Amino acid sequence: MTHILGRTLPASVRADFPILATRPGAYLDNAATTHKPRAVLDALVEYYTTANSNVGRGYHELGRLSTDVYERARQDMRLALGAAQPEEVVFTTGTTDAVNAVVDGLGRRLLGPGRAVLVSGMEHNSNLLPWRRLAEETGGELLTAPVDRHGRVDLDAFTALLGPKVGLVAVSHVSNVLGTVNPVADLVAAAHRHGALVLVDGAQAVPHRPVDVRELDADFYCFSAHKVYGPMGTGVLYGKRELLDDLRPPRVGGGTVKGVSAVDPVRYVPVPQRLEAGTPNVAGAVGLAAALRYLDGLGRDAVRAHDEHLVRYAVRELGELPGVRVIGAPQETPSGIVSIVVDGVHPYDVGGHLDQHGIAVRSGVHCASTFLDALGLLGTVRLSFAVYNTESDVDAVVDALATVRPGVWTNEHPTTRFL
Ligand code: ALA
Repeated sequence: MTHILGRTLPASVRADFPILATRPGAYLDNAATTHKPRAVLDALVEYYTTANSNVGRGYHELGRLSTDVYERARQDMRLALGAAQPEEVVFTTGTTDAVNAVVDGLGRRLLGPGRAVLVSGMEHNSNLLPWRRLAEETGGELLTAPVDRHGRVDLDAFTALLGPKVGLVAVSHVSNVLGTVNPVADLVAAAHRHGALVLVDGAQAVPHRPVDVRELDADFYCFSAHKVYGPMGTGVLYGKRELLDDLRPPRVGGGTVKGVSAVDPVRYVPVPQRLEAGTPNVAGAVGLAAALRYLDGLGRDAVRAHDEHLVRYAVRELGELPGVRVIGAPQETPSGIVSIVVDGVHPYDVGGHLDQHGIAVRSGVHCASTFLDALGLLGTVRLSFAVYNTESDVDAVVDALATVRPGVWTNEHPTTRFL
């Protein structure tokens, strides 16, 4: 079968990803992590072979060079997100780390008796559990904006829950389970009208669409490098400058202080370094910047059109299969993800069957079991797309599903779920 990359990306894109040459089959687990293009791998090797040194510390040439490339990567993030200044970009180890930094640094001022944080009913555990734990610890309330049967946030219910006790709204830009795109700008505007801050989990948005944090007016916005063709262990926390200035550093240590004496109060450096205690993952930041440059080279609009095309194609092809149900309405606002269930077959059996056919998908609850509960589902089988995926990857899933049968999960553990 020929690889047709849709109408917008050249077939040569596949050659940019060395791992694809080593593994035949279809990789459709990109929402968990994308493969890395040669440009990113080269940037990592180049950093370690030409600049490797700690940043912001050593008074020597390599130290200055390393600091320069690290700060250039921060500038690149500023431009990619439309932030007002590079100081609004904090490098983290990923989205989970970024959310936890806000929860640890600000949460106790927002939550407590009589105070609340509002999350959407579709949140990934990483944008749910840190808030939930803090609510439990402080006696604050965790409110949940319900989702409708299509997995969309119920906007009326969301607005009705806003009120003086809600200090912050935590919401994903794009659902990692169904690919639902939330109307973030509207949610932010509503939250701000009620005096609440908004943190947006952008982990599943940045790979598929241009994001402008000032257009959204998000107070905090975070994403992970490894889902956007960059290295694992790196991410970004964007925050409005005045909010970051006010954030209690979740960790303190090397690189965060102007000076420490045994007696005087500790004087911390300004953000973002104040929020990046310890040696940062410089190569990770450099690799992430290379990944975003790679996407810019393909053309962000072309990438978006490609990913949207594959969602529509998958919905059409899979939706016609007997016994297969597409969950939600991903074709309405396509964003790289399609979730299905197969009647009478446990999602893990479906995932295992596809694996036998060389197809990688994620099956289960996708770290969002409360969302699956709200949808009344045990789990789903998730196809998630990247720039190197093709219509023939979807065709392979369609062909494989023709022979899927109930297996050990269906028969012996029909209600078990853990992934
Ligand atoms: N958050 C990642 C996913 O949705 C791991 O698969």
